[in-house]
Amino acid sequence: MACLGFLAAFLTLLHQTGALLKISTSSPQKAFAGSDVFLHCTYSGYGSTADPRFLVIMWFYQVKEIVRYHNNVQISHPRVSFDDQAARSGNASILLSDVKIEDVGIYSCVVIYSIERVESDIIMNVLVSPKIQIPDIIVHGDKEKTVVCSVSDFYPVDITITWLRDGVSLQNSSLGKIQRNINGSYSVDSTVTITPDHERKKQTFSCRVQHESLPVALQEDFQLVYKEKTKMIPVIVVVLLVLTVIGLGIWKLKSRKGGFTVNDIKGPPILIDGEEVILCCTGNQCAEDTRVIWLEKKAWGDPEIIERYGGDPEDTQHQLLNTSYDMDTKHMGSQCWSSDLRFTFHVANHKGVTFICRFISGNETQEKRFQCNEVYAKPKVAPRKPKYDGAGKILYSLIVYDFYPRDIQIHWSFVTGEGEQIISSEEQRVETQGLTFSVCSEARIPGEVFKDPKCKVRVVWEHASMGRPESREMSVRDADFPWHPVMEDIIIPKLEAGKEAALSCKISGYFPDSLSVQWIKKEKRNESEIKLPTGDYKVPDDKSNEETDKTFTQVTRLTFTPHLERDRGAKFICRVTHPTLEEPIEKRTGPLLTDLPSRPVMEDIIIPKLEAGKEAALSCKISGYFPDSLSVQWIKKEKGNESEIKLPDGDYKVSDITSHKQKDNTWTCEARLTFIPHLERDQGAEFICRVTHPTLEEPIEKRTGPLLTAGNCRTQRWSIWGSWPHSSSCCTKPVCPGWRVCTVRCLAQGHLLERLLAGIELMSPQALSMQSSDVASTPPRYSIY
Ligand SMILES: *[C@@H]1O[C@H](CO)[C@@H](O)[C@H](O)[C@H]1NC(C)=O
Ligand SMILES: *[C@@H]1O[C@H](CO)[C@@H](O)[C@H](O)[C@H]1NC(C)=O
Ligand SMILES: *[C@@H]1O[C@H](CO)[C@@H](O)[C@H](O)[C@H]1NC(C)=O
Repeated sequence: MACLGFLAAFLTLLHQTGALLKISTSSPQKAFAGSDVFLHCTYSGYGSTADPRFLVIMWFYQVKEIVRYHNNVQISHPRVSFDDQAARSGNASILLSDVKIEDVGIYSCVVIYSIERVESDIIMNVLVSPKIQIPDIIVHGDKEKTVVCSVSDFYPVDITITWLRDGVSLQNSSLGKIQRNINGSYSVDSTVTITPDHERKKQTFSCRVQHESLPVALQEDFQLVYKEKTKMIPVIVVVLLVLTVIGLGIWKLKSRKGGFTVNDIKGPPILIDGEEVILCCTGNQCAEDTRVIWLEKKAWGDPEIIERYGGDPEDTQHQLLNTSYDMDTKHMGSQCWSSDLRFTFHVANHKGVTFICRFISGNETQEKRFQCNEVYAKPKVAPRKPKYDGAGKILYSLIVYDFYPRDIQIHWSFVTGEGEQIISSEEQRVETQGLTFSVCSEARIPGEVFKDPKCKVRVVWEHASMGRPESREMSVRDADFPWHPVMEDIIIPKLEAGKEAALSCKISGYFPDSLSVQWIKKEKRNESEIKLPTGDYKVPDDKSNEETDKTFTQVTRLTFTPHLERDRGAKFICRVTHPTLEEPIEKRTGPLLTDLPSRPVMEDIIIPKLEAGKEAALSCKISGYFPDSLSVQWIKKEKGNESEIKLPDGDYKVSDITSHKQKDNTWTCEARLTFIPHLERDQGAEFICRVTHPTLEEPIEKRTGPLLTAGNCRTQRWSIWGSWPHSSSCCTKPVCPGWRVCTVRCLAQGHLLERLLAGIELMSPQALSMQSSDVASTPPRYSIY
């Protein structure tokens, strides 16, 4: 009972801890063989009506599915019925009709609704009431009388039989061997020896039986019948004996006559359920027309022919039309025959069966018998999910089923780094199918040992049908270990710069209590992980809490004071390791603090190639700002004039600004200033891009520096030209944007213009020609080539 008692306790606990779907069954249930029984299972907690699309109901008998309801009903048990209409409204009960002993066992009702699953077990016991028979109550003379009370056909096996004389119990009765009937019920004889008492012939004896199936004890009363001794009986016995001896003698003589013999049937020493068996029967000195017949004789009833070879097929004897047997009969040299019978052995079909190999040669018949006595069925196993036993231990159970004979050994142990430890287990025997047996074995493993992820629970079973013991190992890493930690999303409070805050993450449902948590930070645009705690980031030591269902829960926190520069766009990860996990599990935040203001960052102004008379655009990229409320001002400063000219103005056009949102929630834009450069107007002018944003106390700006300084170059040259011979200045490398680069290596201390001109190197002939045209207003004396 413990096997299921704890299951029930555990399920009750689960229900108290807030699962919405609830299931209820009543267990154990008892039913009389031949009656109909409802196995009740109801569920609730899915709302007013269950949406049948999300509803699945299943019933299992031991490990076998017998009912499945999802949209339609599938029943794979001939005596089970299920009302799908009632099932939709919460009553998933099944009706098992014409109950049989083989129905004993565990029935599980499983209800799945949407993502929830609940399950409950029912132990079904069958009752068959015993019958009493007292066949012989005649006492001869003064001889002691042994009276037998046959108590037959009861189930389950537990029974009490007492004898009474005039209502007073007799102490010296004895119970015989308990017999199991083919249909699974039991019978037993109880005997008592009574010394006749002629004085008290009228005393009443009783055989009383108490059994679970009987509301009141069943009792058979009788009085002994006294008879005088008769001398006839020994005479009859002697006559019968003599006749038997004579008969045997004649039969023996007859059988020796032909010299034809049949050897003992050769077959396997033990028979195992599901395995192929070959019985081999040989005959010697057989006649040409030998016939071979195989027969099968059940414990009761007459032999029946299952296969035959030779002779008249219209044999008068009843013949089984049985295709499960295969016969192969061969002539082996002169007068020798061999016949093989092949079949697959099944305990249920063949236990107690005697196979007869009959040779008919000439007028003689000889036969040999093979009895299926040493029969075995190999156990099958089905592990069940481990459960918490409510007292610090994990309950593992294994159903071992369909084995024969009854004796089986099941041992449990657990293996840790420190070695293997054997633990006691309990077995709840459940008998099924009349002939084979099932058992539910369970062991309680101390919860502590599961802290070692290498811990394994081992169960070994040994049965006469198996060559060597078999075993199975279970570990916390198995997918069906029910207590893997479950993480909820990280809870992020409202974050404000400079104000301490805590991220938190709840981890629940785990067992054992050995969780380790690692917080990790990933900075914006940087994939490397920074393990926390470090610096200002703190991880307070949080303890696990034991829940009512004995699983553990922990809320882990990360506290820090957000800094805009440091934390904007950073991501945080909470990573969890636990013995039940092969790989750590984790939850991540998205980029944080992205809704906080962020300052714009400016890149240098991009200046294209400027050519007089050809439209060009200066561009300035601004990024990283939040919110999207940026304003940009273009400004021109003319050469030698400090006053600022705000653009747009005249020919200078300023594009509208369009901001683009980035992944980290900041914005970027490009500001453009378009104009057609004029040498006179723009020469040496500087352009400024100035940005204002709510995050900035002062506007920020980028400057182009003086543009179109090619003019300077010309001017300088011109001034050299004009000031000669006074100038001794040496100009090197004036940079002339848009004019390419003209490097002037000026040898101004020379007195000859030719030398000066020879010192001028112009990189681009094109620039040279423009230059020469630009200076056309004061025509040079020399053309430069
Ligand atoms: C469920 O249905 C069965 C069969 O109709 C009935 O005997 C039982 O009382 C019902 N249970 C509930 C809780 O309604
Ligand atoms: C059994 O006990 C009864 C009295 O309780 C007695 O009459 C009877 O002789 C006993 N039989 C044997 C075999 O001891
Ligand atoms: C079981 O079998 C016995 C005979 O082997 C028979 O007397 C009895 O009625 C059967 N019981 C049931 C419940 O079928």
